Amino acid sequence: MVMSIVLLLSVMSCKKDSTNTNSLYTPTLADTTATATLAELQQGRQLYIDNCGKCHTLYNPDSYSATQWKAFISNMAPKTNLTSSEITLVSKYVCRGK
Ligand code: HEC
Repeated sequence: MVMSIVLLLSVMSCKKDSTNTNSLYTPTLADTTATATLAELQQGRQLYIDNCGKCHTLYNPDSYSATQWKAFISNMAPKTNLTSSEITLVSKYVCRGK
């Protein structure tokens, strides 16, 4: 009982500290496509949160079309230390698997 309260509190404080990631969709099976698995979308979300909010706020994936995102991603990729396969995962997430 005490343990679960401690756990709950640490989860809550963790959420409070992270920057406004609640508005970023959390992938579910419904978001998977022929070219994006659930695991890829989940990894892409985490990479996006960890690497793309350092210089500006985390833009919402739904604010731009997949075509616009692809152009932004190619401009932004050199600004990060991500590998090309990691960039592909970020792209899958923000483009909603497109
Ligand atoms: C080193 C700093 C830096 C990092 C890291 C960075 N960006 Fe940017 N980003 C910028 C700057 C500066 C601009 C505005 C000027 C420009 O477009 O180059 C920008 C603009 C953008 C825009 C355009 C917003 C608009 O309305 O025009 C998007 C979208 C974007 N970044 C997404 C990303 C993504 C996705 C990543 C991670 C892969 C990322 N950024 C990482 C510096 C950064």
